Amino acid sequence: MSLWLVRGGNVLSGTVTVQGSKNAALPILAATLLVEEPVELTNCPMIRDTENMVKILRSLGCTVKREGDALIVDSRTASDFVLPTALSGELRSSIFLLGSVLSRFQAADAPYPGGCEIGNRPIDLHLLGLKALNAEVEERGGHIRCTGGNLRGAVVDLGYPSVGATENVMLAACRAKGTTTIRNAACEPEIVDLQNFLCACGFRVKGAGTPAIVIDGVKKGHGVSYRVMPDRIVTGTYLLAGAITGGDVTVTGTQPETVDPLLNKLTECGCLVTMRDDSVRVKAPKRVRTVGFTETRPYPGFPTDLQPQLFSLLSVADGTSVVTENVFENRFRHAQELKKMGAINRILDRTAIITGVERLHGASVTAHDLRGGAALVLAGLSAEGETRILYAERIERGYERMDSVIGSLGGSITRKEESIGKEDERRRTGELPV
Ligand code: EPZ
Repeated sequence: MSLWLVRGGNVLSGTVTVQGSKNAALPILAATLLVEEPVELTNCPMIRDTENMVKILRSLGCTVKREGDALIVDSRTASDFVLPTALSGELRSSIFLLGSVLSRFQAADAPYPGGCEIGNRPIDLHLLGLKALNAEVEERGGHIRCTGGNLRGAVVDLGYPSVGATENVMLAACRAKGTTTIRNAACEPEIVDLQNFLCACGFRVKGAGTPAIVIDGVKKGHGVSYRVMPDRIVTGTYLLAGAITGGDVTVTGTQPETVDPLLNKLTECGCLVTMRDDSVRVKAPKRVRTVGFTETRPYPGFPTDLQPQLFSLLSVADGTSVVTENVFENRFRHAQELKKMGAINRILDRTAIITGVERLHGASVTAHDLRGGAALVLAGLSAEGETRILYAERIERGYERMDSVIGSLGGSITRKEESIGKEDERRRTGELPV
């Protein structure tokens, strides 16, 4: 179990270059199965989730090589359509592979991805979309088996603009016979990046970034070298790390327009925000003021993936804030951990009422999920003393070398490996006070 020791009290300042996007790289890696020629992906983040996706692709028979920040995937040797249970369990977003494996092999078999720390994570919309394309879908013994030698274009109405379901249908439709229209599609920037990758491979996809995406099926695509977009959530996380310490942080190599909802919040709470072509600078006051009411929404609303990190900032803001989490039903687990650090908050169903305090203090806390763990790092950077973050490996799922990035800005994260003793386990489950 990874234990991170975060020392608080330093004001973060300086410039960092942001990593490639986890949530763009994962569906694009799944899409490499659609072309039977080598594909080079540059700016692909080196994080646990992409490493796990690479392992899954290799288990299907692909050859994958990493050269610096590039991954070279050659799916010509792929031959298996059964996704490995253990790896797919660890990486629930491997469900995106259903569409591309089905398209490539006319069959796909995946373990039912269970819920996770932030919610039930149903996949009904994914399966609805694949069935609309004339796939047979059977759920048996905790597995989903899809068969479809004759995928046909269709109109797919998504009851909710699910990111994953939109991506799965896009991938399954690329080589289907005829035209597919996805209505009420997700509009996230990562969907646009997937479309750009698919078009670069010779597939015919348009409309990404709007609720209507149209895919004209073609027989095959071709290899390509493609640069993954920058990670907007990691961009926002490091800007918030600067803000929570009263610092002055610039993130370069990013796409400022993709973090607009956060930048508006940072301006509202008293920060000076400056945008250039590919960089954002946030200069914070010693203590930010509250931003009143925030609610998470599908893009272009405030992103759920930055809600925990904003929650930490509001925990030390001057005033009371209200945050409603509309996307996932269990995404406030960081609230309890922040209380151990002296934060004051109350959770009423999907709404949090946060009363800002002058200063948090260090404590032993648990990273229950990826973004909740990142939120605890931010809180620890602003707290008095040292914060011990247990299960920090969950943060490494989405953040590349966070300790050295924060270190380059003047913060302090020390990484340790600890065997999870009985006592720690009992602390983690709450049996023992931390
Ligand atoms: C993607 O997850 C992201 N993951 C998530 O980021 C992100 O929080 C989420 O989109 C929303 O933006 C990746 O891209 C790998 P959804 P996904 O399908 O596709 C409901 C992170 O921290 N729903 O848009 O799973 C679901 O219950 C991760 O990087 C259905 O009801 O998100 C949820 O309430 C966390 N039926 C809502 O939609 C379905 O079939 C949003 O889910 C699918 C989803």
